[in-house]
Amino acid sequence: MRLLRRNRPIYAGKSIFGKTGIKDMNHTFRPFNPDSDKNTVARFLLDTQTITGTVPADVDENWKRYLSSILLAQKRDPNYCAMMLGEDGLTVGFIDAFPLIKDSVTGFVRFDYIVPEKRKLGLGRKLLEYALAILSRAGCKRVCLDVAKTNIAAIAFYQRLGWTMTGEGNGPFLKMSREI
Ligand SMILES: CC(C)(COP(=O)(O)OP(=O)(O)OC[C@H]1O[C@@H](n2cnc3c(N)ncnc32)[C@H](O)[C@@H]1OP(=O)(O)O)[C@@H](O)C(=O)NCCC(=O)NCCS
Repeated sequence: MRLLRRNRPIYAGKSIFGKTGIKDMNHTFRPFNPDSDKNTVARFLLDTQTITGTVPADVDENWKRYLSSILLAQKRDPNYCAMMLGEDGLTVGFIDAFPLIKDSVTGFVRFDYIVPEKRKLGLGRKLLEYALAILSRAGCKRVCLDVAKTNIAAIAFYQRLGWTMTGEGNGPFLKMSREI
């Protein structure tokens, strides 16, 4: 691993993963930048909602609400993790995960995405492990998430990585969790 001096994160406080992006042999992990990444992540979100049949009535409004929750969390908590995964200069994934405010030993993975042409190559695992390492360093002992019941691929992916179903979430979602 080597630290990148460019792509500095936008966190206000002290981040547990340092003030730089991180690069391994093939991949870069860098914080979400609203100016340059918002259209990309909006596309990722809509693609996932299309897969799961949960496209909201007002896509733009839904995106604005999601974007403002990312921005608020980035301001509030330097341990908040909204990372872009890059490969050969192209963005191939995104993850959004953070310690819960009222239960900081529990992390929540809010969104996790790999572009279709790069799936089933181990990138989803790599991105999730990266985020879980950040949450673990922030003191989280377990992580949870909500996944659409119709998202068979994602459920299989999380089960493969040791997550188990813990119950029904709100509406069309299932709850899953695992220890870290
Ligand atoms: C879910 C998602 C992130 C998985 O990413 P990925 O890069 O394809 O996953 P990986 O290649 O790292 O797979 C890790 C393991 O999960 C398994 N897996 C991945 N997708 C699977 C599928 N559709 N069915 C069964 N197993 C699957 C892999 O076989 C692999 O197991 P292995 O290590 O034993 O070979 C990706 O499918 C995705 O972006 N989906 C759309 C967005 C989404 O639904 N996000 C989750 C909801 S928030």
